[in-house]
Amino acid sequence: MTAMHPASLPIAARQLDSAGRLRHFLSTEGLPKDILTSILDTAAGFIDENDVAIKKAPLLRGKTVANLFFENSTRTLTTFELAAKRLSADVLNINIRTSSTAKGESLLDTLHNLQAMLCDMFVVRHAESGAAHFIAEHVAPGISIINAGDGRHAHPTQAMLDMLTIQRKKGPIDQQRVAIVGDIAHSRVARSQIHALKTLGVKELRLVGPKTLLPDSLADFGGTIHRDMNEGIDGVDVVMMLRLQRERMAGALLPSSAEYFAHYGLSPTRLALANPDAIVMHPGPINRGVEIASSVADGSQSVILQQVTYGLAVRMAVMSIIVGNSQNVENTQ
Ligand code: NCD
Repeated sequence: MTAMHPASLPIAARQLDSAGRLRHFLSTEGLPKDILTSILDTAAGFIDENDVAIKKAPLLRGKTVANLFFENSTRTLTTFELAAKRLSADVLNINIRTSSTAKGESLLDTLHNLQAMLCDMFVVRHAESGAAHFIAEHVAPGISIINAGDGRHAHPTQAMLDMLTIQRKKGPIDQQRVAIVGDIAHSRVARSQIHALKTLGVKELRLVGPKTLLPDSLADFGGTIHRDMNEGIDGVDVVMMLRLQRERMAGALLPSSAEYFAHYGLSPTRLALANPDAIVMHPGPINRGVEIASSVADGSQSVILQQVTYGLAVRMAVMSIIVGNSQNVENTQ
């Protein structure tokens, strides 16, 4: 695929309409704090008193959402589908491996056909960084794009469900010391988390990992770099673990999984260095015994499954905010 390079407009501006409201959700980078907090507040409104995001709201009735997944996904695809259904949208899941893309149809031709079926929103996951932006630049004016993960670039709804989890389990983001641990170099989740945490005023951000997975240039994102995990998680309130994304590594950047676990795995002993009431997060899929011990993943400080539930609320929030904004535009025209 060509022409996926970021266009000239700043990334934040490319997702906002002329009134500064969210039209596409492509990245957390550069988005104003009030947009991020409105996503969190709207999501909180979809969560019931049992802390399970199950409220139904017909805010997308009559709308069609197409899930366009060019790359594997379990949690993200399923929660987007469920979220759209909870909002009463019609939902299409396009399986790219069995679609015409496999017969050589270009991305834009596939897109134009979906537009002709009068879809209102595309949820896009793609292995190429920039794919969601590329699509956003080529869709008809009434259609919105939500980025469900592009290459190693961004995964904004994952970052927002992580922010919601921190807020609900620990309190305001600006009171938290957060460590992101592991394969940050290949992680679209980490990039989106870092931008969101910074915008929401995180108290302290530490980036923890080996040199091959955590180049010094990542310090430019803000946050301190730690090669020593014990030092990196000492006294933190939130430990965010990441999977080794071997499918995105160009060569062997690592020793064995066992050695990786010895240096950067979250074992019970290591977790004891964080604050006693620290929470353990992971976007999934988890690799037990590689980046996280089973007993920690299943332990009392783990909120990993709660993140999945909150993901439903956050995806409902993003979709309903975008549709609400586009209806306002229609009404004022
Ligand atoms: C992540 C992803 O696909 O970027 N998973 C997810 O969306 N829940 C993280 C990963 O693949 O490790």
